[in-house]
Amino acid sequence: MTKTILENDLIIKAAKSEKTARPPVWMMRQAGRYLPQYQAIRSQMSFLELCKNPDKAAEVSIQPFEILGVDAIIMFSDILIPLEPMGADLSFDTGKPEFRTPIRTAAQIEKLLVPSDIESSCGFVYETLRTIKQRIGSAVPVLGFAGAPWTLASYLIEGGGSKNFDNIKALMYREPEAMHLLLEKLSETIIEYLCVKLKHGADMLQLFDTWASVLSADDYRQFALPYQQKIISGIKARYPDALITLYVNGVSSVIDYMVESGADVLSIDWRSNLREIREYLGSYKSSSTSRSIAVQGNFDPCYLFGDKNFIERRTLQMLGEAGTQGGYIANLGHGILPNIDPEHAKVFINTVKNFRYH
Ligand code: CP3
Repeated sequence: MTKTILENDLIIKAAKSEKTARPPVWMMRQAGRYLPQYQAIRSQMSFLELCKNPDKAAEVSIQPFEILGVDAIIMFSDILIPLEPMGADLSFDTGKPEFRTPIRTAAQIEKLLVPSDIESSCGFVYETLRTIKQRIGSAVPVLGFAGAPWTLASYLIEGGGSKNFDNIKALMYREPEAMHLLLEKLSETIIEYLCVKLKHGADMLQLFDTWASVLSADDYRQFALPYQQKIISGIKARYPDALITLYVNGVSSVIDYMVESGADVLSIDWRSNLREIREYLGSYKSSSTSRSIAVQGNFDPCYLFGDKNFIERRTLQMLGEAGTQGGYIANLGHGILPNIDPEHAKVFINTVKNFRYH
């Protein structure tokens, strides 16, 4: 596809560690239930129906751009969507993601498919992307995303969210070969899924390995890192200019390995100090581009429960910790929560937008 020139390319520049006048800002899960305008559309259909309706999915993707003025639009969908064409029976009937038949045996893993034509089996995803692009033109970048293999495998094997991750760890330790086969199939699927997003106009990508931090450092290096690397290098082999952010919730135990992923940007949660992270990353270059590694984060989403002065103070503190060298994208440390007042989110966004490096 031909790339159009973006009117607001702050996030692209920051991801390349270039200096900008101010940091760009967006919020993970910015298209979601805290917005009454999202609730109004969501009340007419189920979550999965909304994901599969490109007209409405594009509309809710654009809402945070119009209502809050964020510097990037993340396309509305879910990380679990590409697991359906692999043969998993995904439902959100209870409000939480659920796989009615969890994948717990080598035989089930053998049967999972690597979709041969994800461009048509997930056609609604790509149509959503194109619809967003048609509606907003080149105003701001549109972000595509996917789950990373370990986090996707945790939902498949646990059958949903988990506290102890006991089923996935049992499989990992009892049948490591079956586990690697599953992670391999997920990697192949996600490489194709994300490359097709680039083909249909995504300006940047984010890979969510949200729960990989429940692994010991050794296990992260064995079961999470190689597949993050495989996906990032697989995409960059086909799209050398692709920009990729890696998010893990709870980076402090695994930051040493995240730098080896080849990601352009590391997305950091609030438990780590941004100043220390930046100092640590200062001595590294991205292994895929030899540029400095940019940072995204790391506002505690619960700070948004504080009053407006508190939110402004904590935002300025975060910007101070991020330093003045650029290569920084302001964001939350995890997704925004459903019971946040959008006016409070606006204070966070506007405080960043009014900030200048000099
Ligand atoms: O960031 C965005 O605005 C884009 C859309 C997006 C959603 N989910 C929409 C969503 C993105 C990027 C995700 C990623 C996602 N989904 C992750 C990784 C990031 C993270 O937050 O850790 C994970 C683990 C999931 C799986 C998932 N989807 C869970 C655990 C839940 C239920 C819990 C919850 O927060 O509601 C979902 C549902 C979901 N995904 C909703 C939204 C807006 C709420 C659905 C509703 O409207 O009822």
